[in-house]
Amino acid sequence: MSPAERAAELRRLIDRANIAYYVHDAPEIPDAEYDRLFRELREIEAAHPEIATPDSPTQRIGAEPATALRKHTHLRPMLSLANAFSDVELAAWEDRNARLNADVRHGGYTTEIKIDGAAVNLTYAGGRFVTGATRGNGTVGEEVTANLRTIPGLPLILQGQGHPGLMEIRGEVYFSRKAFERLNADREAAGDPPFANPRNAAAGSLRQLDARITRSRRLGLFAFHVEVVEGTLKAATQWEVLDQLEAWGLPVAPHRARHPDLAAVQQAVARYETMIRTLPFEADGVVVKIDTLPLHDDLGVVGGREPRWAVARKFAPEVAVTRLLEIRVNVGRTGALTPWAVLEPVELGGVTISSATLHNDEIIAQKDIRIGDWVEIVRAGEVIPQVMGPLRERRDGSEVEFAMPEECPVCGTPVDRPADEVVRYCPNVSCPGRILEGIVHFASREAMDIRGLGYERVRQLLDAKLIRDVADLYELDAERLIALERFAEQSAAQLVKSIADSKARPLSTLLFGLGIHHVGKTVAVLLARRFGTMAALRDASEEAINEVPGVGPVIAAAVHHFFRTARNRHLVERLERLGLGMTEPDATVTDGPFTGMTVVLTGTLPTLSRTEATALVERAGGHVSGSVSKKTSLVVAGSDAGSKLEKATALGVPVIDEAELLRRVAPRP
Ligand code: IVH
Repeated sequence: MSPAERAAELRRLIDRANIAYYVHDAPEIPDAEYDRLFRELREIEAAHPEIATPDSPTQRIGAEPATALRKHTHLRPMLSLANAFSDVELAAWEDRNARLNADVRHGGYTTEIKIDGAAVNLTYAGGRFVTGATRGNGTVGEEVTANLRTIPGLPLILQGQGHPGLMEIRGEVYFSRKAFERLNADREAAGDPPFANPRNAAAGSLRQLDARITRSRRLGLFAFHVEVVEGTLKAATQWEVLDQLEAWGLPVAPHRARHPDLAAVQQAVARYETMIRTLPFEADGVVVKIDTLPLHDDLGVVGGREPRWAVARKFAPEVAVTRLLEIRVNVGRTGALTPWAVLEPVELGGVTISSATLHNDEIIAQKDIRIGDWVEIVRAGEVIPQVMGPLRERRDGSEVEFAMPEECPVCGTPVDRPADEVVRYCPNVSCPGRILEGIVHFASREAMDIRGLGYERVRQLLDAKLIRDVADLYELDAERLIALERFAEQSAAQLVKSIADSKARPLSTLLFGLGIHHVGKTVAVLLARRFGTMAALRDASEEAINEVPGVGPVIAAAVHHFFRTARNRHLVERLERLGLGMTEPDATVTDGPFTGMTVVLTGTLPTLSRTEATALVERAGGHVSGSVSKKTSLVVAGSDAGSKLEKATALGVPVIDEAELLRRVAPRP
C-alpha cells in the first residue's frame, strides 16, 4: 500500500471512529487504538506533506455536533492536548518548547490529573453562569446550559472577587465509578444498552434533551482553565489559576502538584500512575502544564489544535494477549442477541478475564475477529475489558469467521433486525431464553428480591414445567417442589415463603420487576409515585405518562405500549388476583405541606423549570393552577413575573420565591 493509500484509509477509519464517539456516544474502537491510528496518520502526513489534505482529521477536532441541541460557538476555540506516552516523549516536548523560548526550563510545572470525562465550556458574564456547551468540533459545540445547571458543584454565581467581566471556564464533567455502575445496572435492568465507560456516560448525560434526566445522573465537574474574553485575571501561574477557580467556588480536581523542573515532574508521574487507580472516578493520565502564564501566549498553539504549553502524559493501557476460543450468543430479556467471546483465562490488571463482550457482528467484522484468533485485550481505564483486535501474524489458517445465527440460539425462531439498528432480536416473546432472563430479573434482589431464585432454580422450574411466567411462581406449592431434585422439605418451604413475602412489595418494585422496556428503577419510582396504582398507570394516556418529570417520550411510548398488549394486561390482572400489591405507599400525599392549596407559578425561576416546580408542588399535596384568583393560596414568583404577580399583590395572596418553595417542600427530618 502506498503512503497516500494508507493515509486515505486511516482518515476513513478515524472519521468513522470520531462520529461513533462524538455524535453517537458509542465508541467502536478503544482509545488506545484510536491514538495509534491518529499518530500513524500524523507521521505519514509529516513525512509526505504533499499528501496532507485540509479535511484530514489531523486538522480538526472531533466531528460535527448532533443536530437536536442548539449550536454554540465558543468565544475562544476549545483546544485539545498532545500526548506523551513516555518520559522520553515528555523530555522531547520540553526540548521543543525550549528551542522556542529557553525560559520554559526555569519557570516550573503544574501537574493535574487528566479526568476522563466530557469537556465543557462554561461562560460566565459578570460573575454569573450564562451559557454552557460541549466541545463539539472545538469551534462549535452544543448548548447544554440547562443540563449543566443540574450539576450540584457548578456555581451559578461566582463567589469571591476578581472575576473577569466575560470569561470561559473550561472543565470536565465526569461520572464517579459508583454513579456509573449504578446507572449501568439500571440501564441493563431496563433492557437499555449499558455505556462502555464513564466518559461516554458523561457525554451522553450532558446531551440529554431533558435536563431532568441529566440531573438524575449525578454528574460531577472539575474546572482547570480560564479563557479571559473581557477584563483581567489576577494570576501569574497555572497554579494560581487553580487557586482562583477554587476561590470562586468551582470544584478543582484533587492531587494537583507543582514542580521546579521536568525531572521532578517525571518522578511525580510514577506516583500518579499507581494513585490514579484508587480514585473514585476515572483518570487516564496526568496533564503537565508550564506554570508561567505569559509563556503560554508566547509559545502558542500547534495547528489550531494543541497548545504547546500543556501535554497529556498518558499511561500505557493494560494489554493482555490470549486465545479467543469460541463466540457464543446470549439472548437478553428484550430478545437482543449479544455475541461474546470465550477467552483462554488471562491476567489483566490484577483480575482474571475469561470472557469479553463483542457488542454486535458489525464490530466483529470491522475488527476482523475470528474464532481461534490470538487477540489483544485492553482495559484502558475501561470497566469492561475489550477485545482490541486479532494478531493476524499469528494465524495458521485454522481460524473461522463468525456469522451471527439467523435463528435464535435458544428457541430457533428466525431473528429480526430492525432497519435502523445493528442489534438482532429474537422476536418470540415466549422464547425460553427470554423468559428465563425475565423471571431471573423479576426475582433479583434489585426487583422483587425473592431469595433463592437465581438462574439455576428458575431453569429447573422452567424445565419441570412448573412455571411459564412470573405469575406461576405465586401458585407453586412446597409439595411439588419437593418432588424435584435438590429440594428438601425446608428449602422448598423457604422458597414458597420468600415468594409469598414478595407480594408485599410496592408498585414501583413490581413495575421494575416486570421488565418493561426502558423502565429502570428510577423511572419505576417516578411512575408509581405519580400514578399511585397499577390501574391508574394502565389506563393513563401516553401524553399523561410523558408529563411525569423525568420521563421522556421514548419511555412513555414503551410503557403505554406495554399496557396495550393483551398478554401483559392478563399477566398484571393475574398478579393482582394472586394478591400482589398494586399501590405505592408514598404516592398520594394527604398530609403534605401544600395539601389542599392552589398554587400559581409565574415568571422564570432561577433553577427550577416549570415542570419541576409543578412536580414539587404536587408531590407536596398541592394543585397548580394557571391563573390567580381569590381561591389562590400562594404564588411562586421568579424574575419577569408580570400581571399574575400584580394581581396576587392586589388580592393579598402571599407570594414566595423559589428558595422559599424549596424550603417548604423539603422533606421533614
Ligand atoms: S487542559 C486549553 N487540563 O483532556 C485547555 N485538560 O485530551 C487544554 N482534560 O480537552 C486542556 N483534565 O477536556 C486540561 N486537568 C486538565 C484536564 C484536561 C481533562 C481534558 C480536556 C481536554 C482533553 C484533551
